[in-house]
Amino acid sequence: MAAAGSAVGLGNIWRFPYVVGENGGGAFLLIYVAIVALFGMSLAMSEIALGRATRRNPVGAFAQLGGNAWRPLGYLGVLSGFVILSFYIVVAGWTLAYIGFMSRGVIVSTEPAQLGAHFESFIASPLQPLAYAAVFMALVAWVVGGGIGKGIERFSKLLMPALFLLLIGLTLRAISLPGAAEGLRFFLTPDFSKVSAETFSAALAQAFFSLSLGMGCLLTYGSYLKKSSAIASTTGAVVGLDLCVSVLAGLMVMAIVFSFGFDPAAGPGLTFVTLPAIFATMPGGVLFGVGFFILLAVAALTSAISILEPTVAYLIDEHRFSRGKAVLLCTAVCFAMAIPSSLSFGHWSGFHLFGKTFFDLMDHAATNYMLPLGALLSSLFVGWKWSKGAINELSRPGAEPASWTRGWLLFLRFVAPPALAWILLTSAGIV
Ligand code: PHE
Repeated sequence: MAAAGSAVGLGNIWRFPYVVGENGGGAFLLIYVAIVALFGMSLAMSEIALGRATRRNPVGAFAQLGGNAWRPLGYLGVLSGFVILSFYIVVAGWTLAYIGFMSRGVIVSTEPAQLGAHFESFIASPLQPLAYAAVFMALVAWVVGGGIGKGIERFSKLLMPALFLLLIGLTLRAISLPGAAEGLRFFLTPDFSKVSAETFSAALAQAFFSLSLGMGCLLTYGSYLKKSSAIASTTGAVVGLDLCVSVLAGLMVMAIVFSFGFDPAAGPGLTFVTLPAIFATMPGGVLFGVGFFILLAVAALTSAISILEPTVAYLIDEHRFSRGKAVLLCTAVCFAMAIPSSLSFGHWSGFHLFGKTFFDLMDHAATNYMLPLGALLSSLFVGWKWSKGAINELSRPGAEPASWTRGWLLFLRFVAPPALAWILLTSAGIV
């Protein structure tokens, strides 16, 4: 349940639809599904196995099994956590703000220009978005500061299925809008003329981000997993659920985009700009709108907690921090990094590094480089250095290893590392 809460979040509902839109639709979806099934599944299983075998944080786990030489791989994960959280809380803040906008009825419209202008002017203001990000960060700190969050687990068990049901309902509504068929065609029909190396790296980045992979998050959650749970089926359930939520969100957003004439390649604002349109067409739309953004904020919260937890676990285990101090330090650093991210939509939008705004740079650095690099190194680690231990961990105690574990190992040894290296090098423009 906790791993599903980590995986399902803004990555599915905010990031996935706009990345599909920017990458031409159907062909991207196909590549994405293949990457999730192959890379997502096998790497998620290795991370969970690493955590459960060592019962440690990422840095401690790699050091325990591989010696000090592998410690930096854990540090990479800790660093990725900071980078991701710094922009994640900005978007989560937008979600909180939209709860308010919906409830006050200020965005009851189906007009792309009007909805776009409202979003733009909100994110460009200097203080308001940051105040919402601060509120969200405080919520995260509060939950993580109080231990692994029994309370949140209990209520997310109720609210996550509610989000899923609401999403199904909204998707059905969206695809029955006039003109929505064009959106379905865009989303579901592959157009291979739009595929380039870029498409693969975007799909891989999205898959890792959405599955919380490559930064030790699943490793940390694996360390809390019972020995009696089967890793393969647990992982399959989480990966499958995550994919379903993304596909639903993609269908819903694309149907709205084409029905009302939004721009599918509008970028990070896409979900926020399009969604109010569907609520405006529904009886009781305000209620559904408020409910939706509340549930989305909860999904973002359970994900954000999982981004912070590995770092906090690391500071507690390896540096003897108290939980409170560890949370305070992380919160301060993340929020400080969120400031330039948020301002990059307004006052600092002209400031570019490597051709990107600060927000885009953080997102790109983490998802296109840090997560794939983390995944590449962990596949080498598990495939070559810890393969026996990993197969043991994936097998039932005392039983022979299942035959699929051989295929899994071959994938980790010979397929994942060169493929990930190729994608990293092409996105860096080296190959
Ligand atoms: N998977 C989360 C989401 O989709 C984000 C996340 C990334 C969580 C990396 C943990 C680690 O929103």
